[in-house]
Amino acid sequence: MKIGIDKIGFYTSHLYVDMAKLAKKRNEDPNKYLIGIGQEKMAVIPPTQDAVTLAANAADTILTEEDKEKIDLVLVATESGVDNSKSSAAYVSELLGLKHNIRTLELKQACYAATAGIQLAKGHISLNPHKKALVIGTDIARYGLKTPGEPTQGGGAVAMVISADPAVLALEDASSYYAKDIMDFWRPLSQTEAMVDGKYSANVYLEFFEQVFHDFQEQTGLTLRDFTALLFHLPYTKQGLKALRLAVENIDPTQATKYFNEFEASRKYNKLTGNLYTGSLYLSLLSLLENSDNLQAGDRLGLFSYGSGAQGEFFSGILQENYRQHLTNKTTSLLNKRQEVSVAEYEKLFNSVLTNEKNRTLDTTSDPATYVLTGIKDFKRQYQKK
Ligand code: CAA
Repeated sequence: MKIGIDKIGFYTSHLYVDMAKLAKKRNEDPNKYLIGIGQEKMAVIPPTQDAVTLAANAADTILTEEDKEKIDLVLVATESGVDNSKSSAAYVSELLGLKHNIRTLELKQACYAATAGIQLAKGHISLNPHKKALVIGTDIARYGLKTPGEPTQGGGAVAMVISADPAVLALEDASSYYAKDIMDFWRPLSQTEAMVDGKYSANVYLEFFEQVFHDFQEQTGLTLRDFTALLFHLPYTKQGLKALRLAVENIDPTQATKYFNEFEASRKYNKLTGNLYTGSLYLSLLSLLENSDNLQAGDRLGLFSYGSGAQGEFFSGILQENYRQHLTNKTTSLLNKRQEVSVAEYEKLFNSVLTNEKNRTLDTTSDPATYVLTGIKDFKRQYQKK
């Protein structure tokens, strides 16, 4: 039985900051951000959006009433959780109007958790082929103003329906994974911004990629040539480019061009959004599917997932017949409709995020999203469907 991604949808906020303008304010050469980091625009998440609303807004782009009837597992992957106990999946399922006879759960393993969600959903569907699972990767990447990590912030969510006979990508059975307890990136419970050993994290990411890509090839007998494209977790798009360079270093440069071309299609949306943490790999998948002219049904895609702390996994999927007809193709218009904010406005919004307050009301009038955070009452977050 084929199991995999049946639908995939994305949401980010209506605001962004221009990276060249941010670079100038930080006394950096704009090309450091545009080329060295590989980012053009960065999503700015207003206080009226959090991991829950981003997730609900992403799911809203793909779910039909029929999906809602069949979904009995909801896995929300995030490292931007809004509560230490209550799961984001509980809020999201209710906001979306899902049934109550379902399993809901929040997953955390830094930027890897959505991949864990997909693999767990695959197991669930193999036992319950007539059901569907909703897996959402949702995050807000925050390192702090004027830190080296600042140009690698961003935010948004990718929602996927996992089912039997998927319309988009059938997952293959083989998978290689690697885990190690390291301190490359972490966020203590008291902090709203991540701590990171930047250069170390970038190097460990590459080591994990080499490890799992090598293991995958040993396990399956497949080689690079069996893949039409490789997809990467993109904390910033240059990081994926570095991994791709390692993957193609022993092949003919003319053949390597094909992989670099696909990579450009796969990083288009990420360049305009920034880091989504656990959704980033899947935004890159959506970007490839919606922007590559060369892909065909039957092509094999390789996916590298990395979550700090750290967990890596390499797995693969086969593009399905007529997959293009099952894409929402809503991303370009979502990204084009966004409003630019100045660096000063971005800084103000960054500092006004809801943290440990007991009571606060948020003005949602300027937020065009369907699902918004309206405030907090007695430490209970208040959500609204507009
Ligand atoms: N033109 C073109 N390129 C330029 C340039 C210019 N004018 N000026 C600098 N550059 C290049 C540099 O040569 C460098 O390229 P390489 O990486 O290829 O060497 C690049 O721009 C970045 O420059 P620096 O290394 O000097 O940048 P930095 O030290 O200020 O910070 C960073 C870079 C360490 C990635 C920092 O942004 C950071 O800490 N980010 C967060 C951590 C992160 O994303 N880690 C990724 C792995 S962890 C992970 O994947 C999980 C996750 O999502 C967090």
